[in-house]
Amino acid sequence: MDWERDGMTRRSALYHSAGALALVCSFDFDKRGTAARGKTSANLRSQLASPFEPFQRDLPIPAVARPVRATKKLEEYVFDMKPGTADILPGLQTPILGYNGGFPGPTIKARRGREVQVLQRNQSGRSLNVHLHGGVTLPQFDGHPHDAIPTGEERLYKYPNVAHSSTLWYHDHAHGETAQTLFAGLAGFYLLDDPDDNHLDLPQGDYDVPLMITDRSFNKDGSFRYRLDLDRGFRGDTILVNGAVAPRMKVERRLYRLRFLNASNARAYVLKLGNGRDMIQIGSDGGLLPAPVRRKEIPMEPAERVDVIVDFRQFGVGSKVILHNQGGEPSTSAVMRFDVVRGSAEEARIPKLMREEEELPEVNAERSWPLTFQGLAGGASVWQIGGGGFSEMRIDCRPRQGSTELWTWRNLSNRTHPMHMHGYHFKIVSMNGKAPHPGDRGWKDTVAVYPNETVVVRPYFDHYAGLYVFHCHAAEHGDMSMMGQMEVVA
Ligand code: C2O
Ligand code: CU
Ligand code: CU
Repeated sequence: MDWERDGMTRRSALYHSAGALALVCSFDFDKRGTAARGKTSANLRSQLASPFEPFQRDLPIPAVARPVRATKKLEEYVFDMKPGTADILPGLQTPILGYNGGFPGPTIKARRGREVQVLQRNQSGRSLNVHLHGGVTLPQFDGHPHDAIPTGEERLYKYPNVAHSSTLWYHDHAHGETAQTLFAGLAGFYLLDDPDDNHLDLPQGDYDVPLMITDRSFNKDGSFRYRLDLDRGFRGDTILVNGAVAPRMKVERRLYRLRFLNASNARAYVLKLGNGRDMIQIGSDGGLLPAPVRRKEIPMEPAERVDVIVDFRQFGVGSKVILHNQGGEPSTSAVMRFDVVRGSAEEARIPKLMREEEELPEVNAERSWPLTFQGLAGGASVWQIGGGGFSEMRIDCRPRQGSTELWTWRNLSNRTHPMHMHGYHFKIVSMNGKAPHPGDRGWKDTVAVYPNETVVVRPYFDHYAGLYVFHCHAAEHGDMSMMGQMEVVA
Protein backbone atom coordinates (compact mmCIF):
# COMPACT_ATOMS: atom_id res chain seq x y z
CA MET A 1 0.00 0.00 0.00
CA ASP A 2 1.87 2.98 -1.30
CA TRP A 3 0.04 5.68 0.56
CA GLU A 4 1.21 4.18 3.82
CA ARG A 5 4.81 4.20 2.88
CA ASP A 6 4.53 7.67 1.47
CA GLY A 7 2.88 8.90 4.66
CA MET A 8 5.53 7.34 6.81
CA THR A 9 8.35 8.75 4.76
CA ARG A 10 6.97 12.22 4.98
CA ARG A 11 6.48 11.93 8.71
CA SER A 12 9.98 10.64 9.15
CA ALA A 13 11.41 13.46 7.08
CA LEU A 14 9.65 15.85 9.37
CA TYR A 15 11.03 14.29 12.52
CA HIS A 16 14.61 14.33 11.33
CA SER A 17 14.77 17.68 9.67
CA ALA A 18 15.57 20.17 12.39
CA GLY A 19 17.78 20.64 15.40
CA ALA A 20 16.95 19.25 18.80
CA LEU A 21 14.22 21.31 20.39
CA ALA A 22 12.12 18.96 22.42
CA LEU A 23 13.01 16.33 24.91
CA VAL A 24 11.67 13.05 23.62
CA CYS A 25 11.45 9.69 25.29
CA SER A 26 10.86 6.77 22.97
CA PHE A 27 9.27 3.61 24.32
CA ASP A 28 12.45 2.43 25.98
CA PHE A 29 12.65 5.83 27.61
CA ASP A 30 16.02 6.77 26.18
CA LYS A 31 15.96 10.50 26.22
CA ARG A 32 17.13 12.00 23.00
CA GLY A 33 16.68 15.24 21.18
CA THR A 34 14.52 15.28 18.12
CA ALA A 35 13.01 17.65 15.65
CA ALA A 36 9.94 19.66 16.39
CA ARG A 37 9.09 22.24 13.83
CA GLY A 38 5.65 23.46 14.60
CA LYS A 39 4.19 21.30 11.84
CA THR A 40 2.60 18.16 13.14
CA SER A 41 1.24 15.00 11.65
CA ALA A 42 -2.13 16.76 11.64
CA ASN A 43 -0.97 18.77 8.65
CA LEU A 44 -0.07 15.61 6.82
CA ARG A 45 -3.36 13.99 7.70
CA SER A 46 -5.21 16.56 5.68
CA GLN A 47 -3.01 16.03 2.63
CA LEU A 48 -3.11 12.26 2.26
CA ALA A 49 -4.98 9.26 3.47
CA SER A 50 -2.91 7.82 6.26
CA PRO A 51 -3.19 5.20 8.98
CA PHE A 52 -4.06 8.13 11.23
CA GLU A 53 -7.34 8.72 9.39
CA PRO A 54 -10.22 7.78 11.68
CA PHE A 55 -12.68 4.89 11.21
CA GLN A 56 -10.43 2.58 9.21
CA ARG A 57 -10.26 -0.23 11.74
CA ASP A 58 -12.82 -2.22 13.66
CA LEU A 59 -12.91 -1.66 17.39
CA PRO A 60 -10.85 -4.30 19.20
CA ILE A 61 -12.30 -5.68 22.42
CA PRO A 62 -9.62 -6.57 24.99
CA ALA A 63 -9.63 -10.30 25.77
CA VAL A 64 -11.31 -11.37 29.00
CA ALA A 65 -8.73 -12.87 31.38
CA ARG A 66 -9.14 -16.54 32.28
CA PRO A 67 -8.59 -17.51 35.91
CA VAL A 68 -6.06 -20.28 36.51
CA ARG A 69 -8.31 -21.53 39.32
CA ALA A 70 -11.83 -20.62 40.31
CA THR A 71 -14.21 -21.53 43.09
CA LYS A 72 -17.42 -19.89 44.27
CA LYS A 73 -15.41 -17.77 46.69
CA LEU A 74 -12.16 -17.08 44.82
CA GLU A 75 -10.76 -16.58 41.35
CA GLU A 76 -7.01 -16.67 40.79
CA TYR A 77 -5.17 -15.07 37.90
CA VAL A 78 -1.53 -14.96 36.86
CA PHE A 79 -0.33 -12.02 34.78
CA ASP A 80 3.07 -11.34 33.30
CA MET A 81 4.05 -7.72 32.99
CA LYS A 82 6.33 -7.77 30.01
CA PRO A 83 7.26 -6.16 26.72
CA GLY A 84 5.12 -6.98 23.71
CA THR A 85 4.01 -5.45 20.46
CA ALA A 86 0.71 -3.96 19.39
CA ASP A 87 -0.78 -3.81 15.88
CA ILE A 88 -1.79 -0.18 15.78
CA LEU A 89 -0.43 1.11 12.49
CA PRO A 90 -0.66 -1.04 9.35
CA GLY A 91 2.56 -2.86 8.55
CA LEU A 92 4.28 -1.71 11.74
CA GLN A 93 4.67 -3.18 15.20
CA THR A 94 4.45 -0.84 18.17
CA PRO A 95 6.57 -1.94 21.12
CA ILE A 96 4.61 -1.72 24.35
CA LEU A 97 4.83 -2.79 27.95
CA GLY A 98 1.69 -4.63 28.89
CA TYR A 99 -0.08 -7.06 31.16
CA ASN A 100 0.55 -10.39 29.45
CA GLY A 101 2.36 -8.29 26.86
CA GLY A 102 -0.82 -6.67 25.50
CA PHE A 103 -2.26 -3.17 25.28
CA PRO A 104 -4.86 -2.80 26.65
CA GLY A 105 -4.34 -5.56 29.21
CA PRO A 106 -6.84 -8.40 29.62
CA THR A 107 -10.20 -7.47 31.13
CA ILE A 108 -10.82 -8.96 34.55
CA LYS A 109 -14.48 -9.71 35.16
CA ALA A 110 -15.11 -9.88 38.87
CA ARG A 111 -18.20 -10.50 40.94
CA ARG A 112 -19.18 -8.83 44.15
CA GLY A 113 -18.62 -11.18 47.07
CA ARG A 114 -16.09 -13.35 45.23
CA GLU A 115 -12.44 -12.54 45.84
CA VAL A 116 -10.00 -12.07 43.00
CA GLN A 117 -6.29 -12.73 43.42
CA VAL A 118 -3.82 -11.67 40.78
CA LEU A 119 -0.25 -12.88 40.87
CA GLN A 120 1.65 -10.20 38.99
CA ARG A 121 5.01 -11.37 37.68
CA ASN A 122 7.30 -8.55 36.67
CA GLN A 123 9.29 -9.47 33.57
CA SER A 124 9.55 -5.93 32.29
CA GLY A 125 13.13 -5.04 33.11
CA ARG A 126 12.11 -2.23 35.46
CA SER A 127 10.40 -1.80 38.82
CA LEU A 128 6.64 -1.82 38.59
CA ASN A 129 3.67 -1.84 40.88
CA VAL A 130 -0.01 -2.53 40.23
CA HIS A 131 -2.88 -0.38 41.41
CA LEU A 132 -6.56 -1.28 41.12
CA HIS A 133 -8.02 2.14 40.46
CA GLY A 134 -11.32 2.62 42.26
CA GLY A 135 -10.83 -0.63 44.13
CA VAL A 136 -11.60 -1.08 47.80
CA THR A 137 -8.68 -3.16 49.04
CA LEU A 138 -6.49 -3.56 52.08
CA PRO A 139 -3.61 -1.09 51.88
CA GLN A 140 -0.98 -3.78 51.25
CA PHE A 141 -2.78 -4.74 48.02
CA ASP A 142 -3.54 -1.23 46.84
CA GLY A 143 -0.38 -0.54 44.92
CA HIS A 144 1.00 2.23 47.06
CA PRO A 145 3.87 3.73 45.04
CA HIS A 146 6.45 2.51 47.57
CA ASP A 147 5.36 -1.14 47.17
CA ALA A 148 7.46 -1.73 44.07
CA ILE A 149 7.92 -5.15 42.47
CA PRO A 150 11.55 -5.33 41.29
CA THR A 151 11.98 -6.84 37.86
CA GLY A 152 12.21 -10.62 38.04
CA GLU A 153 9.98 -10.73 41.11
CA GLU A 154 6.27 -11.15 41.68
CA ARG A 155 3.56 -9.97 44.02
CA LEU A 156 0.14 -11.32 44.88
CA TYR A 157 -2.71 -8.81 44.95
CA LYS A 158 -5.97 -9.66 46.73
CA TYR A 159 -9.15 -7.87 45.74
CA PRO A 160 -12.09 -8.68 48.02
CA ASN A 161 -14.77 -7.18 45.73
CA VAL A 162 -16.79 -5.84 48.62
CA ALA A 163 -17.91 -2.68 46.82
CA HIS A 164 -20.86 -2.15 44.50
CA SER A 165 -20.70 -2.98 40.82
CA SER A 166 -18.48 -0.53 38.95
CA THR A 167 -16.09 -0.01 36.08
CA LEU A 168 -12.60 -0.16 37.53
CA TRP A 169 -9.23 -0.34 35.90
CA TYR A 170 -5.82 -1.52 36.89
CA HIS A 171 -2.64 0.24 35.92
CA ASP A 172 0.97 0.71 36.85
CA HIS A 173 1.85 3.06 39.70
CA ALA A 174 5.67 2.97 39.74
CA HIS A 175 6.80 5.83 41.90
CA GLY A 176 7.66 8.90 39.84
CA GLU A 177 7.45 6.88 36.60
CA THR A 178 3.74 6.35 36.05
CA ALA A 179 3.69 8.78 33.14
CA GLN A 180 6.08 6.44 31.31
CA THR A 181 4.66 3.07 32.34
CA LEU A 182 1.03 4.02 31.76
CA PHE A 183 2.00 5.48 28.40
CA ALA A 184 3.89 2.30 27.52
CA GLY A 185 0.64 0.34 27.83
CA LEU A 186 0.24 -0.93 31.40
CA ALA A 187 -3.52 -0.51 31.79
CA GLY A 188 -6.54 -2.80 31.68
CA PHE A 189 -10.21 -2.99 32.66
CA TYR A 190 -11.55 -4.57 35.82
CA LEU A 191 -15.32 -4.86 35.62
CA LEU A 192 -16.98 -5.52 38.94
CA ASP A 193 -20.42 -6.97 38.59
CA ASP A 194 -23.07 -7.36 41.28
CA PRO A 195 -25.69 -10.11 40.92
CA ASP A 196 -28.07 -7.83 42.83
CA ASP A 197 -28.14 -5.56 39.75
CA ASN A 198 -29.50 -8.28 37.46
CA HIS A 199 -33.08 -7.09 37.85
CA LEU A 200 -32.09 -3.82 36.15
CA ASP A 201 -31.83 -5.65 32.78
CA LEU A 202 -28.89 -3.56 31.64
CA PRO A 203 -27.30 -4.49 28.30
CA GLN A 204 -24.96 -7.47 28.69
CA GLY A 205 -22.44 -9.55 26.81
CA ASP A 206 -21.64 -8.12 23.36
CA TYR A 207 -23.86 -5.16 24.20
CA ASP A 208 -21.76 -4.12 27.21
CA VAL A 209 -18.63 -2.57 25.74
CA PRO A 210 -15.55 -1.31 27.59
CA LEU A 211 -13.92 1.61 25.76
CA MET A 212 -10.47 2.70 26.87
CA ILE A 213 -9.65 6.09 25.41
CA THR A 214 -6.02 7.17 25.20
CA ASP A 215 -3.91 9.55 23.18
CA ARG A 216 -0.53 8.78 21.70
CA SER A 217 1.99 10.09 19.19
CA PHE A 218 4.17 7.89 17.00
CA ASN A 219 7.67 7.75 15.65
CA LYS A 220 8.12 6.76 12.02
CA ASP A 221 8.98 3.19 13.01
CA GLY A 222 5.61 2.85 14.72
CA SER A 223 6.88 3.21 18.28
CA PHE A 224 5.09 5.49 20.71
CA ARG A 225 6.63 8.93 20.89
CA TYR A 226 6.64 10.51 24.33
CA ARG A 227 7.37 14.14 24.91
CA LEU A 228 7.80 15.29 28.49
CA ASP A 229 5.65 18.27 29.39
CA LEU A 230 5.51 18.76 33.13
CA ASP A 231 3.23 21.76 32.80
CA ARG A 232 0.39 20.38 30.67
CA GLY A 233 1.20 16.69 30.80
CA PHE A 234 1.56 14.56 27.69
CA ARG A 235 -0.81 15.27 24.82
CA GLY A 236 -0.66 13.03 21.78
CA ASP A 237 -1.90 13.81 18.27
CA THR A 238 -3.75 10.51 17.78
CA ILE A 239 -6.73 9.05 19.66
CA LEU A 240 -6.82 5.33 20.35
CA VAL A 241 -9.83 3.40 21.61
CA ASN A 242 -8.91 -0.02 23.01
CA GLY A 243 -5.58 0.46 21.27
CA ALA A 244 -6.91 1.21 17.75
CA VAL A 245 -6.76 4.58 15.99
CA ALA A 246 -10.27 6.13 16.21
CA PRO A 247 -11.97 2.85 15.26
CA ARG A 248 -15.45 1.98 13.99
CA MET A 249 -17.82 -0.46 15.59
CA LYS A 250 -20.75 -2.28 14.02
CA VAL A 251 -23.84 -1.96 16.17
CA GLU A 252 -27.39 -3.28 16.01
CA ARG A 253 -30.47 -1.14 16.50
CA ARG A 254 -30.79 -1.73 20.24
CA LEU A 255 -29.48 -0.57 23.59
CA TYR A 256 -25.76 -0.68 24.29
CA ARG A 257 -23.92 -0.06 27.51
CA LEU A 258 -20.71 1.82 26.76
CA ARG A 259 -18.16 2.03 29.54
CA PHE A 260 -15.88 4.96 28.86
CA LEU A 261 -12.52 5.14 30.59
CA ASN A 262 -10.10 7.97 30.04
CA ALA A 263 -6.77 6.15 30.45
CA SER A 264 -4.74 8.98 28.93
CA ASN A 265 -1.79 10.47 30.78
CA ALA A 266 -3.17 13.99 30.88
CA ARG A 267 -5.63 14.66 28.07
CA ALA A 268 -9.23 15.54 28.89
CA TYR A 269 -12.09 14.78 26.50
CA VAL A 270 -15.57 16.14 26.02
CA LEU A 271 -17.56 13.31 24.46
CA LYS A 272 -20.44 14.15 22.17
CA LEU A 273 -22.46 11.66 20.12
CA GLY A 274 -23.44 12.47 16.52
CA ASN A 275 -24.92 15.90 16.31
CA GLY A 276 -25.75 15.99 19.99
CA ARG A 277 -27.83 12.86 20.55
CA ASP A 278 -28.53 11.83 24.10
CA MET A 279 -26.30 9.47 25.97
CA ILE A 280 -28.00 8.10 29.05
CA GLN A 281 -25.46 8.07 31.82
CA ILE A 282 -26.00 5.25 34.29
CA GLY A 283 -22.70 5.12 36.13
CA SER A 284 -19.57 6.97 37.16
CA ASP A 285 -16.33 6.06 38.96
CA GLY A 286 -17.96 4.39 41.95
CA GLY A 287 -20.71 2.51 40.10
CA LEU A 288 -24.34 3.05 39.22
CA LEU A 289 -26.00 6.42 39.74
CA PRO A 290 -29.25 6.62 41.73
CA ALA A 291 -31.08 7.21 38.42
CA PRO A 292 -30.13 7.64 34.75
CA VAL A 293 -29.06 11.09 33.56
CA ARG A 294 -29.43 12.24 29.96
CA ARG A 295 -26.37 14.06 28.65
CA LYS A 296 -25.37 15.53 25.32
CA GLU A 297 -21.80 16.21 26.33
CA ILE A 298 -19.68 14.35 28.83
CA PRO A 299 -16.37 15.80 30.01
CA MET A 300 -13.82 13.22 31.08
CA GLU A 301 -10.56 13.91 32.87
CA PRO A 302 -7.83 11.27 33.12
CA ALA A 303 -8.88 8.18 35.14
CA GLU A 304 -12.59 9.05 35.18
CA ARG A 305 -15.13 6.45 34.12
CA VAL A 306 -18.55 7.12 32.71
CA ASP A 307 -21.04 4.36 31.88
CA VAL A 308 -23.76 5.27 29.41
CA ILE A 309 -26.58 3.55 27.59
CA VAL A 310 -26.95 4.56 23.97
CA ASP A 311 -30.20 3.72 22.25
CA PHE A 312 -29.25 2.93 18.68
CA ARG A 313 -32.93 2.32 17.82
CA GLN A 314 -33.09 6.07 17.20
CA PHE A 315 -30.85 5.63 14.14
CA GLY A 316 -31.72 3.91 10.87
CA VAL A 317 -29.82 0.97 9.47
CA GLY A 318 -26.89 2.38 7.53
CA SER A 319 -26.36 5.33 9.88
CA LYS A 320 -22.82 6.16 10.84
CA VAL A 321 -22.75 7.86 14.21
CA ILE A 322 -19.54 9.59 15.21
CA LEU A 323 -18.42 9.99 18.79
CA HIS A 324 -16.67 13.35 18.88
CA ASN A 325 -14.24 14.89 21.29
CA GLN A 326 -15.46 18.47 21.52
CA GLY A 327 -12.30 19.53 23.30
CA GLY A 328 -9.95 18.17 20.66
CA GLU A 329 -7.64 19.61 18.05
CA PRO A 330 -8.44 18.66 14.43
CA SER A 331 -6.50 15.39 14.75
CA THR A 332 -8.02 14.44 18.10
CA SER A 333 -11.64 15.37 17.58
CA ALA A 334 -12.84 11.99 16.27
CA VAL A 335 -12.95 9.33 18.97
CA MET A 336 -14.75 6.51 17.14
CA ARG A 337 -17.77 5.72 14.96
CA PHE A 338 -20.77 3.45 15.40
CA ASP A 339 -22.06 1.92 12.17
CA VAL A 340 -25.66 0.79 12.54
CA VAL A 341 -25.84 -2.40 10.50
CA ARG A 342 -29.11 -4.13 11.36
CA GLY A 343 -32.16 -4.33 13.52
CA SER A 344 -32.36 -6.60 16.52
CA ALA A 345 -34.67 -7.85 19.25
CA GLU A 346 -34.28 -5.94 22.48
CA GLU A 347 -33.70 -7.69 25.77
CA ALA A 348 -32.42 -4.79 27.83
CA ARG A 349 -34.19 -1.70 29.10
CA ILE A 350 -33.34 1.68 30.58
CA PRO A 351 -34.04 1.42 34.29
CA LYS A 352 -35.81 4.24 36.13
CA LEU A 353 -34.04 3.83 39.45
CA MET A 354 -30.78 2.02 40.02
CA ARG A 355 -29.34 2.56 43.44
CA GLU A 356 -30.48 3.85 46.81
CA GLU A 357 -28.79 6.90 48.25
CA GLU A 358 -26.84 5.94 51.38
CA GLU A 359 -27.04 7.88 54.61
CA LEU A 360 -23.57 9.15 55.44
CA PRO A 361 -22.03 9.57 58.88
CA GLU A 362 -21.53 13.15 60.02
CA VAL A 363 -18.64 15.22 58.82
CA ASN A 364 -15.79 14.68 61.25
CA ALA A 365 -13.11 17.05 59.90
CA GLU A 366 -12.53 19.68 57.23
CA ARG A 367 -9.34 19.99 55.27
CA SER A 368 -8.17 22.39 52.61
CA TRP A 369 -5.58 21.51 49.99
CA PRO A 370 -4.08 24.25 47.83
CA LEU A 371 -2.81 22.93 44.50
CA THR A 372 0.20 24.83 43.20
CA PHE A 373 3.03 24.89 40.72
CA GLN A 374 6.04 25.63 42.86
CA GLY A 375 9.37 26.98 41.71
CA LEU A 376 12.38 25.33 43.35
CA ALA A 377 15.85 26.65 44.01
CA GLY A 378 17.87 26.05 40.87
CA GLY A 379 15.06 26.92 38.48
CA ALA A 380 13.10 23.65 38.41
CA SER A 381 9.41 23.51 39.27
CA VAL A 382 7.16 20.86 40.74
CA TRP A 383 3.47 20.38 41.37
CA GLN A 384 2.44 20.34 45.01
CA ILE A 385 -0.50 19.66 47.30
CA GLY A 386 -0.75 21.73 50.46
CA GLY A 387 2.68 23.24 49.95
CA GLY A 388 4.47 19.91 49.68
CA GLY A 389 5.45 17.34 47.10
CA PHE A 390 5.19 13.62 47.73
CA SER A 391 7.26 12.25 50.58
CA GLU A 392 7.05 8.74 51.98
CA MET A 393 8.21 10.25 55.25
CA ARG A 394 5.22 12.55 55.62
CA ILE A 395 1.62 11.65 56.35
CA ASP A 396 -0.56 14.54 55.34
CA CYS A 397 -3.69 13.62 57.28
CA ARG A 398 -5.18 10.94 59.52
CA PRO A 399 -8.91 10.57 58.92
CA ARG A 400 -10.90 8.30 61.20
CA GLN A 401 -12.23 5.06 59.74
CA GLY A 402 -15.99 5.14 59.36
CA SER A 403 -16.14 8.94 59.18
CA THR A 404 -16.76 11.42 56.41
CA GLU A 405 -14.81 14.64 55.95
CA LEU A 406 -15.01 17.73 53.80
CA TRP A 407 -11.99 18.22 51.56
CA THR A 408 -11.56 21.44 49.66
CA TRP A 409 -9.29 21.35 46.61
CA ARG A 410 -8.18 24.90 45.85
CA ASN A 411 -6.55 25.09 42.46
CA LEU A 412 -4.13 28.02 42.52
CA SER A 413 -2.72 27.16 39.10
CA ASN A 414 -3.81 27.52 35.50
CA ARG A 415 -3.97 23.77 34.78
CA THR A 416 -6.74 21.31 35.52
CA HIS A 417 -6.00 18.72 38.20
CA PRO A 418 -8.02 15.49 38.18
CA MET A 419 -7.71 14.78 41.91
CA HIS A 420 -7.92 11.13 42.88
CA MET A 421 -8.12 9.24 46.15
CA HIS A 422 -7.12 5.61 46.69
CA GLY A 423 -9.10 3.16 48.78
CA TYR A 424 -12.25 5.24 49.22
CA HIS A 425 -14.88 7.14 47.32
CA PHE A 426 -16.34 10.60 47.75
CA LYS A 427 -19.36 12.64 46.86
CA ILE A 428 -18.83 15.98 45.16
CA VAL A 429 -20.36 18.68 47.33
CA SER A 430 -19.71 21.65 45.07
CA MET A 431 -17.71 22.66 42.03
CA ASN A 432 -16.67 26.27 42.23
CA GLY A 433 -19.63 27.05 44.46
CA LYS A 434 -22.19 25.28 42.28
CA ALA A 435 -23.90 21.95 42.72
CA PRO A 436 -22.28 19.26 40.57
CA HIS A 437 -23.91 18.04 37.36
CA PRO A 438 -26.37 15.18 38.14
CA GLY A 439 -23.98 12.83 36.32
CA ASP A 440 -21.34 13.71 38.91
CA ARG A 441 -23.53 13.14 41.96
CA GLY A 442 -22.78 9.45 42.38
CA TRP A 443 -19.74 8.00 44.10
CA LYS A 444 -16.51 9.29 42.61
CA ASP A 445 -12.82 8.63 43.06
CA THR A 446 -11.50 11.28 40.66
CA VAL A 447 -12.76 14.83 40.16
CA ALA A 448 -11.75 17.64 37.83
CA VAL A 449 -10.50 20.72 39.64
CA TYR A 450 -10.39 23.32 36.89
CA PRO A 451 -7.88 26.20 36.77
CA ASN A 452 -8.30 28.66 39.61
CA GLU A 453 -11.43 26.89 40.84
CA THR A 454 -12.39 25.24 44.10
CA VAL A 455 -14.01 21.84 44.51
CA VAL A 456 -15.39 20.46 47.76
CA VAL A 457 -15.71 16.70 48.13
CA ARG A 458 -16.92 14.50 50.95
CA PRO A 459 -14.88 11.29 51.24
CA TYR A 460 -16.30 8.37 53.18
CA PHE A 461 -13.56 6.39 54.90
CA ASP A 462 -15.40 3.12 55.15
CA HIS A 463 -14.18 -0.51 54.75
CA TYR A 464 -10.46 -0.60 55.57
CA ALA A 465 -7.99 1.43 57.62
CA GLY A 466 -4.38 2.09 56.69
CA LEU A 467 -2.03 4.07 54.51
CA TYR A 468 -3.18 5.21 51.07
CA VAL A 469 -2.22 7.98 48.67
CA PHE A 470 -4.22 10.72 47.01
CA HIS A 471 -2.88 12.55 43.99
CA CYS A 472 -3.41 14.36 40.74
CA HIS A 473 -4.09 11.82 37.97
CA ALA A 474 -2.47 13.88 35.25
CA ALA A 475 0.36 11.34 35.30
CA GLU A 476 3.13 13.90 34.89
CA HIS A 477 1.75 15.97 37.77
CA GLY A 478 1.40 12.96 40.06
CA ASP A 479 4.95 11.88 39.29
CA MET A 480 6.39 15.34 40.00
CA SER A 481 5.05 15.17 42.67
CA MET A 482 1.45 16.11 43.30
CA MET A 483 0.71 13.32 45.73
CA GLY A 484 -0.04 13.09 49.42
CA GLN A 485 -0.48 10.30 51.95
CA MET A 486 -3.36 9.68 54.32
CA GLU A 487 -3.42 7.17 57.11
CA VAL A 488 -6.94 6.18 57.94
CA VAL A 489 -6.98 5.17 61.58
CA ALA A 490 -9.32 2.55 63.00
CU1 C2O B 1 -5.35 5.48 38.89
CU2 C2O B 1 -3.17 6.36 42.11
O1 C2O B 1 -4.29 5.95 40.50
CU1 CU C 1 -6.36 4.92 42.12
CU1 CU D 1 -2.48 18.02 38.10
